Formats: sequence, C-alpha cells, structure tokens
Amino acid sequence: MSDWADPSVKILKYLKKAKAQFVSGEELSELFGMSRTAIWKRMESIKDEGFNIEAVTKKGYRLIMEETACGKNAPYGRLAVQSELTGSVFGHNLKFFQETDSTNQVLKKMAAQDAPEGTVVISDMQSEGRGRRGKAWSSSPNLGIWMSILLRPNLHPSSVQTLTLAASVAVMRALEPFRIEGIGIKWPNDILINGKKVCGILTELSAEAEKVDWVIIGIGLNVNHSESDFPDDIRSLATSLRMNVNNETLLDRSVIAADIIDEMEKVYRCFIERGLAWVVREWKKYNITLGKRIKIINQQGEANAEAIDVTEEGRLIVKDENGKEHELYSGEISIRET
Ligand code: BTN
Repeated sequence: MSDWADPSVKILKYLKKAKAQFVSGEELSELFGMSRTAIWKRMESIKDEGFNIEAVTKKGYRLIMEETACGKNAPYGRLAVQSELTGSVFGHNLKFFQETDSTNQVLKKMAAQDAPEGTVVISDMQSEGRGRRGKAWSSSPNLGIWMSILLRPNLHPSSVQTLTLAASVAVMRALEPFRIEGIGIKWPNDILINGKKVCGILTELSAEAEKVDWVIIGIGLNVNHSESDFPDDIRSLATSLRMNVNNETLLDRSVIAADIIDEMEKVYRCFIERGLAWVVREWKKYNITLGKRIKIINQQGEANAEAIDVTEEGRLIVKDENGKEHELYSGEISIRET
C-alpha cells in the first residue's frame, strides 16, 4: 500500500505527537477503528522502516526517537516521509525505493498509467540518476534526497519553464529554517551555496501542441554528504546541506523531503491562482543571477553578457557586448558567472 489511507501513517504521526509517552493499544484501536491485532501488525511495519517502537504490557507502545549523531541515519522511507506531511494532496500517493534507475523514469511510467497529480517517487539511491543537458547525477545511498513530483497543470507548454522556477522557490522555502548564508538560485533553478551546487532540478514534460499532459519535477538535493562523498569530477563544484549547517549530526532526510513536498504544493497552488508573474516575483527574491556578468555556453560556443531580467515564461533576458538584448531558454544553455 502506498497511499495516505494506510493507517500506519496515522499511527506513526500519533506516536510522534505523543513524544515518547506510552499510548495504549486500546486507545489506538478505538481511535483508528481497528482491532488490537491490526494495530500490532501496523507497529511491525513501522518498525520495519527503522523506527524504534517499544511495546510494554499494560502500558502500550511508545516511539523512541534516537539521536542521529555518530553517523546514524534517521529512518528514511515512505512512512517516515508521509508522517511528516501537512499538505492535502502532494505525497499522499508516494512510492519509495531503496534503489531504482531514476525516479523521473519511474514516475514517467506511472504518469503514462494515469497516476494522479501530486504523486511522488523517492529513492535512497539511483543507479542512473540524470541531470540537465544529458549529464549524469551522482545519487549515492544514505546521503541525499532523490525525488520526483508529478504535476498535471492546465497549461500551455510554453509556460512550463516557469514551473521549474516555481520548484526552485519551493526548495528554497523548505530550506529557510536552516538559515544558510550564501544560498540562492542560479537561473533557471540550480541552488548554490557560496557558488557550489547543493540542489539541481530536472523538469520533463509530455504535451500536445496546446496543452500539457504531465510535468515531472525531479529534485536532487545533497543533504548529508561530506566532501569525500562526492565523485572526484564534481568535488570542487558541489556541496551539501550538512557541510553548511554543522558536520556532527546527520540531517533527517524524511523531514526535509516532506517540507519540500509541502512547499511544492503551496507554491503550485499560488502559481495556479496568481499566475506566472507571481512565481517570477518570488523567484527574484532568491535569485543570484540577475545583475551579474555571465558567460553563456551552448553548442555554438561561448559569449559574454549581462543578466538583466527574467520573463514571465522564465526566459533569461541578457544584454550582449554590443548592448543588444536576447531572451534565453534554459534548454541547451548553461551560464557561468564571470
Ligand atoms: C541538474 O542537472 O541540475 C538536475 C539534476 C536533477 C537530479 C534529480 S534526482 C531525482 C530525479 N531523478 C533523476 O534522474 N534526476 C532528478
């Protein structure tokens, strides 16, 4: 069972709220309208995900939340993520894998089989994680959040680029509690900390001429990496949340993933209600590209320019060395600050 209706999610939420106090089997069975045996079975599935549940005769069950210091990861799985969600749709249908090729690939297949909007796929590890412009995305186990979210917006395909900006706004909002110095969005949707990449977003879509069928937002966030966890070729270019928060305690990926899903739901709703201009305004609050001198790199070569503005369709307006303005679509272009 992968959906929200699974009582294990509600039970885990309840145990978390009880904050290590015992909750009797009787109370749980009345509350959730299930037999004591059914409650016991759910406890076993919660334990299977790595939660430490203590069961004591005549007292009931309690959840022991362990310190995540000393290199021990907090439980990371479907129940762990869903028990942290607060939104009303996104993530209620969630598939979690220990390993898969690419969460975008899995979700694409689900989208073709009519998976509903807000469906989420997460994997602890990806064997063929993909980045923009055909690059590979390093997706080792135990370290990051590799996740894809399905949207079915009633939108013209030309507006999808704005949705990718919206996704980076959602991630920035979810990361705000960490109060990280030097974090910002590089156009269109890379999140950098002091010039090093902490998060990348790969948007894929299926559309007819006038209307989008589905959009998949694939988010890769480096969470618990230390410098040595990154492959040699990206070590000097990449960073993780933990490297910028503190290096002692491992961060709880379930909480962060759930926050991103919740923020994505909120930003998406605002986008639908308030339109493209709202997203661009929000994006500008976090951007670190506008006003900078940049190098534009595409298959034809390289050119210097100045980043001026972003259009409602998410295109970057640049001024070239002759003072002429151009609009860039992110597809095949990469930019670098000069
Ligand atoms: C980029 O190049 O900046 C985009 C990276 C996107 C990586 C994420 S990880 C989850 C999802 N599945 C993939 O194969 N790619 C995206």
